Amino acid sequence: MKANLSLFLSLMLSLASTILGHSINREGYISIDCGIHPPNKTYMDVVTGINYSPDDAFITTGVNFKVAEEYGYTQNVNLPAVLAEVRAFPQGNRNCYSLKPSNAKDNLYLIRASFMYGNYDDGINDQPLPEFDLYLNVNFWSTVKFKDAAEQVNKEILTYAESETIYVCLVNKGKGTPFISGLELRPVNSSSYGTEFGKNVSLVLYRRWDIGSLKGTGRYHDDRFDRIWSPYSRTSWNSIVTSAYIDVFQTSYWPPDEVVKTAASPKSADDPLELLWTSQDPDVRFYAYLYFAEIEKLEKNESRKIKILWNGSPVSEYFFIPSNYSMTVSNSRAFTGKDHLISVQKASDSTLPPILNAIEIFTAQSLDEFSTAIEEIHAMESIKSTYKVERFWSGDPCSPRLYRWEGIGCSYNNSSEHITSLNLSSSGLQGPIALAFGNLSFLQSLDLSHNDLQHNVPEFLADLKHLKSLNLKGNDLTGFIPESLMKKLKDGSLTLRYVDDQNLCNPHSCQEKKKNNKLVQTVVVTSVMVLLVVLVIILIILRKRKRKRKRGANSGPGPLLPSGKRRFTYDEISSITNNFNKVIGKGGYGIVYLGFLEDGTKIAVKMIKDSSLGIPKGSSSSSSSRASREFQVEAELLLTVHHRNLASFIGYCDDDRTALIYEYMANGNLQNYLENTEDLSWGKRLHIAIDSAQGLEYLHRGCRPPIIHRDVKTANILLNDNLEAKIADFGISKVFPDDDLTHVETAVMGTPGYIDPEYYRTFMLNEKSDVYSFGIVLLELITGQRAIVKNEDGIKISVVHFVEPILKTGELEGIVDPLLRDDFSSDSAWKFVEVAMSCVRDRGYDRPTMNQIVSELQHCLAAELAREPHRSSCQESGGLGNEEVSKVY
Ligand SMILES: *[C@@H]1O[C@H](CO)[C@@H](O)[C@H](O)[C@H]1NC(C)=O
Ligand SMILES: *[C@@H]1O[C@H](CO)[C@@H](O)[C@H](O)[C@H]1NC(C)=O
Ligand SMILES: *[C@@H]1O[C@H](CO)[C@@H](O)[C@H](O)[C@H]1NC(C)=O
Ligand SMILES: *[C@@H]1O[C@H](CO)[C@@H](O)[C@H](O)[C@H]1NC(C)=O
Ligand SMILES: *[C@@H]1O[C@H](CO)[C@@H](O)[C@H](O)[C@H]1NC(C)=O
Ligand SMILES: *[C@@H]1O[C@H](CO)[C@@H](O)[C@H](O)[C@H]1NC(C)=O
Ligand SMILES: *[C@@H]1O[C@H](CO)[C@@H](O)[C@H](O)[C@H]1NC(C)=O
Ligand SMILES: *[C@@H]1O[C@H](CO)[C@@H](O)[C@H](O)[C@H]1NC(C)=O
Ligand SMILES: *[C@@H]1O[C@H](CO)[C@@H](O)[C@H](O)[C@H]1NC(C)=O
Repeated sequence: MKANLSLFLSLMLSLASTILGHSINREGYISIDCGIHPPNKTYMDVVTGINYSPDDAFITTGVNFKVAEEYGYTQNVNLPAVLAEVRAFPQGNRNCYSLKPSNAKDNLYLIRASFMYGNYDDGINDQPLPEFDLYLNVNFWSTVKFKDAAEQVNKEILTYAESETIYVCLVNKGKGTPFISGLELRPVNSSSYGTEFGKNVSLVLYRRWDIGSLKGTGRYHDDRFDRIWSPYSRTSWNSIVTSAYIDVFQTSYWPPDEVVKTAASPKSADDPLELLWTSQDPDVRFYAYLYFAEIEKLEKNESRKIKILWNGSPVSEYFFIPSNYSMTVSNSRAFTGKDHLISVQKASDSTLPPILNAIEIFTAQSLDEFSTAIEEIHAMESIKSTYKVERFWSGDPCSPRLYRWEGIGCSYNNSSEHITSLNLSSSGLQGPIALAFGNLSFLQSLDLSHNDLQHNVPEFLADLKHLKSLNLKGNDLTGFIPESLMKKLKDGSLTLRYVDDQNLCNPHSCQEKKKNNKLVQTVVVTSVMVLLVVLVIILIILRKRKRKRKRGANSGPGPLLPSGKRRFTYDEISSITNNFNKVIGKGGYGIVYLGFLEDGTKIAVKMIKDSSLGIPKGSSSSSSSRASREFQVEAELLLTVHHRNLASFIGYCDDDRTALIYEYMANGNLQNYLENTEDLSWGKRLHIAIDSAQGLEYLHRGCRPPIIHRDVKTANILLNDNLEAKIADFGISKVFPDDDLTHVETAVMGTPGYIDPEYYRTFMLNEKSDVYSFGIVLLELITGQRAIVKNEDGIKISVVHFVEPILKTGELEGIVDPLLRDDFSSDSAWKFVEVAMSCVRDRGYDRPTMNQIVSELQHCLAAELAREPHRSSCQESGGLGNEEVSKVY
């Protein structure tokens, strides 16, 4: 019966508020019923007619609870709906709601948080009632504590939004789990409260009284700012009520009708009307807003003239209370001290006693903590969401200082906090290094170690001007360190930890740098680059070795390593090459000579020009021996990279002169072979293409980080006497920079005609740059042209631009090398052209991987073989069907 009645009442009220609700402008309200269940429930509060939402959209942390039954509706039918559930925060010392009213910045808002403990956490009710702090953005707002479990606590603050997001944070002080029942935000006309302080002060509500009211409900539909006015009267006062119209819109405070239509005056007409309070902290600054409106009908000979005093000093001059409209008076200088007495006194010539309709008392809180710079907040939010970082990161990253985000260090500069260090070590980050890190422009230290970060070390990290320490250890990053970062390593402004236990700027080398020995720096940088490649290779090899040993297979050196000798003296080199008497090639790094090992094996000896090693003439012997040592490490490691489509590196010389010794390839390089051979069939060309593709694929996929060749070209593809193709010079371009050392950082390496235009533009090097160059090789194979072709006008153009216009005609003729004399499957050739053209696409991203290319080329070969079903020579030449493509010793 009772339930039915209350249901009926609710319905009536709901109907009434719906009707009233329509006339009220509630634009911009945010009303959250924290902890509501189910979490997607929205409802209209029957008393206020305001729509409440669940809090999921505003916070991601916390746990929902219902208050204990004895505190809920069953015992208290008037319980405000928001208080029936709570959201509690057992984890994290600061949990924040993010409120995002539209166009928030610089606008004034009233924000109210409400709490009722209601014994929601039943199990631990022997504990004292919780006590915790509320923060608004980065500044302390209030402490929340309770007298008993049923106490309803409201905290209210008036504040200007400093940015588009307003954070309301609950801070755990170690005195029980913070929780919250409701959170409301109301836009307030900014020509009202606090205009005299500017925007750097917030007003925290102390008291708001509807004076003279005896039965006010406290909350009114016509209050645009949805304030809660507590009815307040005293026995020494008379209450006065009017039903006449009072204009509340003369000022921007807009008190609700009900509030201005009640007032009090002292019973004894000559007494002042007084309000008294005591402040525990004498430094607290109080501001009072007093509302006056004449509500009695005055006769001609009557007047009401008053003034306001605080602790005996005048706050205003004498003034007449206006009829028909309301006015608001406040103190421009703060009230401070322990005891406060506000007194409204009538003038001696006033015929009527003083009245007061309402009063609000606030304490002022300076916004003296600085927030984190807004672009850094955005960057951190982006990092947090990109990697779904599982930390209790909420609110402002740097402020308040005591409750900074875990893993963050900040320093203050120019009215903002700036993030100076970020430690995301072992945080499960996956994927590429996000662009957002580049927006933390004050970062000095970034620790991303032991995550699952992939892809390249991005170039933008070099733009972080203050970055001194970068730790990328224990990730899955691939590729090389961008040149711009290398430059910072080189000038000593950055230390980088990259590969496990490999501090790239070890204390020793850094000290030497301080001696300002430019040469040493250069060498160190070079060796750093080398070490990087080399170390990873070691790791792979060790791993593979282990595996091999388990299989118990073939762990000895290969047949091409007579007596295991790998390091030769200059004299030995001289005798091996018969005093350098037969030149078999010339490359960017030096001249290649024919030689013979003791067992008669033919070898190729590449004598490296001194300048390629970065040791100018007359340099100190210590720096040259360092370079030599690094070279030795590098060379020893290259000796261990083996694949049947990579030219075997047999040994080296590193005493007076530097030399690299390779297996001898009887048919020289592909460039010469194409130029000088008339009968290279389409099938053979396909085998060569597949072989070289497999060699590159191994560099890209078999090595971690991938070895990017950087100089793929027909001159670097060697052919043995079976016309098996092998890639030469891999890993070398990294070791030996160009002659001019100052170009190390920026010089685009490679050979004209083969250079990936994207790499040329961006200096960002990756596997797809090799793919581009390989596309040129494929075009040379099918057209028989060189990488750079002279067109009819005698102008040099890329073979790509030579093929493109012909391709548009839809004819193979003109593209395919005339030497092939139409002796090929056109299916195969078409497919081949397609593959080649896909390799030379503008964007690296759009190009296929070497893996895909190998498989496409095998289809080309299959199409060609289908044309000649009897043909089987491909098996002999070892082109296909051989799974064991990689051999590592
Ligand atoms: C709320 O969620 C429940 C279960 O998650 C679902 O059944 C219900 O339809 C949802 N209600 C609304 C209004 O989305
Ligand atoms: C607040 O701003 C006013 C001017 O708008 C300025 O005079 C005052 O010094 C500022 N106070 C603080 C604490 O920054
Ligand atoms: C704020 O109040 C003033 C008058 O007091 C009024 O002119 C102005 O339009 C109000 N602003 C808003 C946004 O309502
Ligand atoms: C004002 O005038 C009325 C008569 O119009 C009279 O009754 C009243 O006493 C006068 N009040 C004062 C304060 O003079
Ligand atoms: C107050 O309003 C009433 C009725 O609208 C009018 O008669 C009276 O003159 C007004 N008084 C003043 C002081 O404006
Ligand atoms: C702080 O700003 C000044 C310029 O206002 C700048 O010189 C200084 O480097 C900055 N400090 C930091 C730690 O970035
Ligand atoms: C301080 O910051 C403001 C805005 O954030 C900027 O306009 C100003 O140039 C900065 N000053 C210095 C010295 O960095
Ligand atoms: C980052 O945190 C890890 C453990 O949490 C610690 O070992 C490492 O030293 C920290 N890095 C820096 C740069 O402080
Ligand atoms: C980084 O800053 C730029 C320019 O301020 C901005 O356009 C970009 O959205 C920011 N990126 C992130 C991830 O915050």
